[in-house]
Amino acid sequence: MSAKSAEIFFKSESRYRTLVENSCDIIFSLDTEGNFTFVSHAWKTVLGHDRGDAVGHNFRKFIHPEDIPRYETSIMTALQTNSAQEVTYRIHHADGSWRWHTSRGTPHVDENGVLTVIGMAYDVTERLRIEEIMTQTEKMIMISGMAAGMAHEINNPLGAILQHAQNIERRVSTGIPANLKAAAEVGVDLDLVRAYLQKRGIFDFIGHIRTAGMRASVIISNMLYFSRRSESGAEYIDLSALLDRVLELAGTDYHLKKKYDFRRIDLQRDYAADLPLVPLVVAELEQVLLNIIHNAAQAMAGAAMRREPRITLRTRLSEGMVLIEIEDNGPGMDEATRLRIFEPFFSTKEVGVSTGLGLSVAYAIVTKGHRGAIEVQSRPGEGSCFTVKLPLQGKA
Ligand SMILES: Nc1ncnc2c1ncn2[C@@H]1O[C@H](COP(=O)(O)OP(=O)(O)OP(=O)(O)O)[C@@H](O)[C@H]1O
Ligand SMILES: [Mg+2]
Repeated sequence: MSAKSAEIFFKSESRYRTLVENSCDIIFSLDTEGNFTFVSHAWKTVLGHDRGDAVGHNFRKFIHPEDIPRYETSIMTALQTNSAQEVTYRIHHADGSWRWHTSRGTPHVDENGVLTVIGMAYDVTERLRIEEIMTQTEKMIMISGMAAGMAHEINNPLGAILQHAQNIERRVSTGIPANLKAAAEVGVDLDLVRAYLQKRGIFDFIGHIRTAGMRASVIISNMLYFSRRSESGAEYIDLSALLDRVLELAGTDYHLKKKYDFRRIDLQRDYAADLPLVPLVVAELEQVLLNIIHNAAQAMAGAAMRREPRITLRTRLSEGMVLIEIEDNGPGMDEATRLRIFEPFFSTKEVGVSTGLGLSVAYAIVTKGHRGAIEVQSRPGEGSCFTVKLPLQGKA
């Protein structure tokens, strides 16, 4: 549109008004104090708040407290530099949620000489979510590729270490005729050799080599999940029954490890009644869910809980996928932690006790093994909610 035609177009007040009022984006103006002087019809349709709640009120009433400084800066900069400024922030919706919006505001002096910032705002929550998934996916492909490569490389030498430790034990055993024969040939008494090895703690050293080697080998076999191609051995499974079994397993396991009493946790089940059978590899999905539940239990045990610890398991159908939600009311996590939890070896727990592989293996099993998705929502102090999404069309 040329400047002339734009002038003609906007000369019509009603045309201008129609355009503003029918825009799907929120159009607004703020005075220099940050009070709304106008919001378009979309304010109501997008946010659910009445327009009257906005006009005459300050933007701070609607913007997330953490984002207010950023919003303020953008208005100040727009006014000071007389230029358009963009800012992304969370805004309160009438349903109680906070959603991400981006707005672009420009200073404007009206016919009465009053300075305002006029702008447009639109919901970018979904776009940000998709961007995060893409970044997360790319990062995981890179890191898990490296981890799988390392696992393959370490697997052979580790196998040799374990095998040779076992050979040493066998070669000094008195129960093998070849050992007795070789000892006789060199003129030593095998019982005395054993007594010496025992006295100097050499059998213990070999035992330690084997225990450490076995621990490494569990880590390596977990890392090998990263290079798994796709599901094999999937069966059509009743998910509700599987979830019940996992909860039972989680309880027994915890009781055995005596970390704390799993029975203290209030377990809520909210399963969809109409779920079809879901194609999945039982042992693998059990591992995924157990790890998520253990993490929740550990997080709640480690935090000073002001409320009764609770884990809620939910299932539902959405867009051809079955969704399993595991929600806890534990300490939650900050943004920096949340963005890293699926990385192999990322852990905030005690070194040597946790490897930080749990969720990265879960990620590999769900995304590669089952062509599904796994996501987490969490905020400090507000608990965490993991969602495992599995496709209903599998290769069982
Ligand atoms: N429900 C949760 N609440 C709070 N933080 C969590 C929760 N689940 C996971 N985390 C965080 O994610 C990190 C990574 O979890 P992951 O299961 O991969 O490793 P880990 O539990 O630390 O170690 P491992 O599973 O090998 O024992 C945890 O160390 C913890 O900081
Ligand atoms: Mg874990």
